[in-house]
Amino acid sequence: MVNPYLHGNFGPVLDERSDDHELEVTGVVPPDLNGRLLRNGPNPAVVADDEADYHWFSGDGMIHAISLAGGKATGYRNRWVRTRSLSSKLGTSLPNGPSEPLDGPANTHVIRHGGTTLALVESGFPHALSDDLGRARVHDFDGGLASPMTAHPKLDPDTGELVFFGSDVFGPPFLRYHVVDAAGALVQTEEIEVPRATMMHDFGVTSSRVVFLDLPVVFDLELAAVGRPLPYRWMPEAGARLGVMPRSGGGDDVRWISIDPVYVFHVLNAYDAGDAVVMDVLRYDRAFDTAPGEAIASGLPMLARWTVDPSANRVTEQRLDDVPVEFPRIDDAVAGRPHRYGYCTRLGERPEDPSFEGLVKYDLVRDESTRFDPGEYHSPGEAVFVKAADGRGEDEGWVLSVVFDATRGASDLVILDATSFAGPPVATVHLPARVPFGFHGSWVPTDS
Ligand SMILES: [Fe+2]
Repeated sequence: MVNPYLHGNFGPVLDERSDDHELEVTGVVPPDLNGRLLRNGPNPAVVADDEADYHWFSGDGMIHAISLAGGKATGYRNRWVRTRSLSSKLGTSLPNGPSEPLDGPANTHVIRHGGTTLALVESGFPHALSDDLGRARVHDFDGGLASPMTAHPKLDPDTGELVFFGSDVFGPPFLRYHVVDAAGALVQTEEIEVPRATMMHDFGVTSSRVVFLDLPVVFDLELAAVGRPLPYRWMPEAGARLGVMPRSGGGDDVRWISIDPVYVFHVLNAYDAGDAVVMDVLRYDRAFDTAPGEAIASGLPMLARWTVDPSANRVTEQRLDDVPVEFPRIDDAVAGRPHRYGYCTRLGERPEDPSFEGLVKYDLVRDESTRFDPGEYHSPGEAVFVKAADGRGEDEGWVLSVVFDATRGASDLVILDATSFAGPPVATVHLPARVPFGFHGSWVPTDS
């Protein structure tokens, strides 16, 4: 079979580059952007003969770093994350630090917290990266981490705390909750009782509470035993629940509320609204009910608002749009607080033929959206919002997205003024290498 996640711009790059020189730019890089855009995504070092044995979620993580300073694009480099499984394939050095129990591919997100850059995947421990990205150390928060860490931790913009969960598929507790302080020390761990291991990719965090997504994409030991790269299956009979817990609470404090079976990979944001939690999500009718290597979901994700009311034991849903989008981002300064704007990547209409067709900015107060069209044969990745140095309003800043240009087989970094989202871009940085479609990334200011 032909696996779409191994071809076109899903296919891996095999070079690790260090282009430490000024890159060509069309337009003007905003001079207040001083730092690096770090991107993570799957880049399989070795592809099995049978392409069906590969799943997009299982490829070895590769970090791409684009440096901006003083109104210029000053460099690009890319490095695989030196995980243990990569070292066995490529003969690279083993990661330092404690032994990693599950050999995760570290391919989903890259963040910087407490002065440490972490490559994340939900099936493994974080890997702390050297500044040149060439070395990795398994990071278990001084022995505090007993199971993998989600790739979607939430940074509280007021306290600087990093709030996250971890799933353990092989035995209870299947779910743990953690808080890391602003300096990077693990200060709270709670075990949360759930009946089975499910794919829990993201969660909601407000200024006071968290919302766990216990949805029916279930870990299947039989699929794992026969070597499926992603051993999960859609099991609606397992039921679907949201669990609301105070951030300072523990497992006994979770209030579970049943909902109809759906799936959510990503939460745009969540915030408190009296007793209720408002949570904007990208909602799929179902997921993982197709064969490995085929579409991830048989439906398309739509932006929806869940109002989660623990006192009424009820979740209400409001559809916010009818175009398929993914990779939701906000201004991280309003994380956990009421947000007005969201930024997403527009998907194609055919899940069996995955494609990325534009960017969408949502104004959720005025119930409007604005689209950035990168042009025919151009496919953008996740949009990362960076507040302008003199930005006051929530959307006063820059949106950064790596765009693949299929006419050249090359990638650009496109920088948009978020207040003039439809374009044209304020700058297009022409990258010296193709950047395969990946998942998530972060803007890391030079002084962080
Ligand atoms: Fe994700």
